[in-house]
Amino acid sequence: MPLSSRHLLGLHNVPKEDINLILDTAKTFKEILERPIKKVPTLQGKTILNLFYENSTRTRISFELAQRRLSADVINFSVSTSSVSKGETFKDTIKNIEAMKIDMVVVRHAAAGTPYYLTQLCDANIINAGDGTHEHPTQALLDLYSIKEKIGSIEGIKVCIVGDVAHSRVALSNIFGLKTMGAEVSVCAPSTMIPKEIENLGVKVYYNIDDAIRDNDVLNVLRIQLERKAREYFPSIREYQQYYGITRQRLDRIGKDILILHPGPINRGVELSNEVADGPNQIILPQVTNGVAVRMAVLYLLGTKN
Ligand code: CP
Repeated sequence: MPLSSRHLLGLHNVPKEDINLILDTAKTFKEILERPIKKVPTLQGKTILNLFYENSTRTRISFELAQRRLSADVINFSVSTSSVSKGETFKDTIKNIEAMKIDMVVVRHAAAGTPYYLTQLCDANIINAGDGTHEHPTQALLDLYSIKEKIGSIEGIKVCIVGDVAHSRVALSNIFGLKTMGAEVSVCAPSTMIPKEIENLGVKVYYNIDDAIRDNDVLNVLRIQLERKAREYFPSIREYQQYYGITRQRLDRIGKDILILHPGPINRGVELSNEVADGPNQIILPQVTNGVAVRMAVLYLLGTKN
């Protein structure tokens, strides 16, 4: 069965069958990535544009690696060296790029809705690599894959998303994906970082991190987005760390073997202590490894669907 859409704009309303297909396909690609020769000819002849208007380490490299592993032709667009710096509009930039016959576009942009706007401007398959504070679907898919790989199943497990939920595209995509796959989802943060009426998404709210650790199987800990003025939402970084930072002492006090995810980049000593960020509970680098396989699956399933 193919995916139900030719774009991946978010995980809102993406059916369980599609998510299962992506996760199962990613498992096959992960096996290929463990072979001595990691390249397959699946997307030979396809041209993919990576259109990153915001900084990225993991997502950009992971997408490019996934594209090269699938033998696609890869074009990387850099805002600072493009004619955007001469005042060219977003629409004109896209129309000119499309005229060069691009098959797929992976886009990251500070404005929520940019991936959808691209679907209205060009015929290429569009993949959202993070749009403002809206969605980051491939991050949530790699989180789902990593949880399933470690625990065996997503159905019925309890996952708490901790931190700057209000400014997080990772949080929203995780909430949609986890709920669709049957997990019990909660969030934990200071009230200033919890969006109003989030309970309407079927999400429980914690304000106390110790209660969240005690009640859940998995913590997905978000980065405090200092570049998005997150500091205005709590009195000081030290106070945030004291009340919401995940430390070894806090985990030991509750005495719970909990799985810890973090999408990266980490603010060490803020949302995670060094001991936890490098410790036995976390799967932060395995998440990154899984990200390549998950992005290969998304590119393959969209790139071969017509
Ligand atoms: N997790 C994530 O999106 O990281 P980057 O911003 O480095 O891509």
